[in-house]
Order: sequence, then structure tokens, then C-alpha cells
Amino acid sequence: MGTTPLVGDMDGIASAASILRAGGLVAIPTETVYGLAADAENAVAVAGIYAAKGRPAGQPLIIHVLPEKAERYALAWSGRAALLADAFWPGPLTIVVPKSTHASLEVTGGLDSVGLRSPAHPVAASLLRAFGGGLAAPSANRYGHVSPTTAEHVLADLGGRIDAVLDAGPCRVGVESTIVELRPGQPATLLRRGGLGVDVIAASLGEEVRDGVDGVVRAPGMVESHYAPAAPVEVVSQGELDARIDAGLPDNVLVISPDPVDHENSVALGDDRSYAAGLYAALRRGDEPAVRAVLVVPPADGQLRSAILDRLTRASHPR
Ligand code: TXA
Ligand code: MG
Repeated sequence: MGTTPLVGDMDGIASAASILRAGGLVAIPTETVYGLAADAENAVAVAGIYAAKGRPAGQPLIIHVLPEKAERYALAWSGRAALLADAFWPGPLTIVVPKSTHASLEVTGGLDSVGLRSPAHPVAASLLRAFGGGLAAPSANRYGHVSPTTAEHVLADLGGRIDAVLDAGPCRVGVESTIVELRPGQPATLLRRGGLGVDVIAASLGEEVRDGVDGVVRAPGMVESHYAPAAPVEVVSQGELDARIDAGLPDNVLVISPDPVDHENSVALGDDRSYAAGLYAALRRGDEPAVRAVLVVPPADGQLRSAILDRLTRASHPR
């Protein structure tokens, strides 16, 4: 199958909507990462997402919706869900709630709950309006690989395996959405760190958010090795990096750090926001044959630091 490149203008959005209506697969821009979208209510199209990614079954997909369409997929839209949606949608927050019959078990990976997100990217919002329904979409990468933040990244992973990619340039946030589960009668639970800080979520709810990332509760699919390029990734402190550079670091080692360093093969990503926005593109350089290893220094602070640390831990986990 040839993958049609579409520009993120009115024509491109209209073409993407008609491909999706016909049951096709289209990679779409969001403010976090590019997603691989299919009609959430078309079981064959949803199965195509798993096939294209090489993703094992039984891993739930997020349904992307306009804010006013979320209730269709939820068994009940609780006060807490409404509160979070009002405060943070459209934006990098996925809310997991008990599912309605409109969210199929194919989409939820057999779970009785569904993840819902209203993306803030204007092209994604226009596409949702043109399409009308919900779009199931995981990140548009091969299973286990680094999430894509440009259309070129999507094509490198999925070119020839999906119908089209809607190109709207690089993603603004650069790490995936924060996932919070709301179960009736239970405390709100963090399932994935991401583009929205947990403290602002807790403040808005007026309750503590239980940490389900490091604790017993886990989002299915949050496997330990993920976001990994071909070359091995090692996370080090700035001091450790400086010492290794002083000792003579070969040029086939790629260095990723917040501040510029004195090494030929290096990327400086800046503070936590620009670091998150540039991280996945930098990690993908670890797929180049000339790169033998990747050394990464995380940002020292900032709202996105914990999401970045989470991704770096998974990228450096042995496979
Ligand atoms: O920013 C994002 O969230 C991006 C963009 C495309 O929206 N999407 C994304 O999707 O990161 P994906 O499939 O790569 O990751 C979705 C995560 C999975 O780890 C899955 O376990 C969790 O969401 N998830 C989805 N529905 C869930 C549910 N009902 N219960 C628990 N976890 C769920
Ligand atoms: Mg993913």
C-alpha cells in the first residue's frame, strides 16, 4: 500500500476524513505526538491499527474526541470527569472512565474502561469536526519504538503500511498525554506521566492523585522497554558526562543534554519544555548506523521533567 502524504490544510483534512470514513488508517498530528487514527466504531479499521504497528492485541487505544463527544463513549460522565475535561481539554490529558457500548472491546483491549482525549492541535480538532465521530489512535510508531513528532518519523516507521499521513509539522509538546483513571468510589489514579503536570490535575480535582505508575496499578502497554532507538541508551548525570568527555568520548557516541557540551556529536535541548519537544527526534538519531551508543543527561527541573525521566528510563531499559 502506498502512503499518501497530505498537507494539514482544508483539502488535506477533507481527504483524511473521507479515508477514515471508508475505514482507512491515517496518521494525524496532535500537540503531543503523531497518532495513527482509525474510525473508533469500525472494528476492521481498529484491527488494522494493531496490524500496521505490529502491536500485540489486548492493549487499549485512546479514543480522540471533540470535548462534547466524550460522553458517547463513557458509561457515565461523572462530576470529576467533567471537571477535568473543562479544565484541561482540549489538551494533553487522557481521562480513563467506565466505557459505554460505543467503545468496543477491540478498542479497549478487553477492558471495561476507555481512555478519552480531546487533542489541542487545530488540525486534529478540524479533522474530528469533519469526521464527526471518535478516532481511535495510538502513537504512530512501530511497536516499542520511539513515538513520532514529525510526519517524516511516521513515514520512517509506517510508510507503506498505512493509507495516509496528514502533515502539520513538528508537535509542540513532544511527549504523550498524561493518563488519569477515574473509577467510581476510588481515588483518581495516574497511569502515565505526560504533557500535563500531576500537581495541576490534583489541584483542579481538589484531591490527591494516587500514583499508579510506580505502584501496583499499571496502564496495560506501559512495558518497561519502550521508546528505544537501535543504539543502546544510557542515562547519566551532567558530572558523569563531563568526566567521560574529558576522558575522550568517540564521535560515534551521540550526546543529548540540556546544555551544549564540547562534543562533536551532540544535541542541546534546553529547558524541560524545549527538551520534551526535541527529545524523540534526538533519540531517533540513535537509529542512524553511524551512532553506536546514546548518552543522555535529563533536564534538572521543570513540570515535564518526570515525564521525560519516565521515557528515558524505558528507552534505556535492556530489551
Ligand atoms: O498523547 C497521546 O496520548 C498520544 C496521542 C496520539 O494522542 N497517544 C498515545 O497512545 O500515546 P498510545 O496507544 O501510544 O498509548 C496509550 C496508552 C497505553 O499505554 C494504554 O495502556 C493506555 O493509554 N490506555 C488506554 N486506554 C486505557 C484504559 N482503558 N485503561 C488503562 N490504560 C489505558
Ligand atoms: Mg505509544
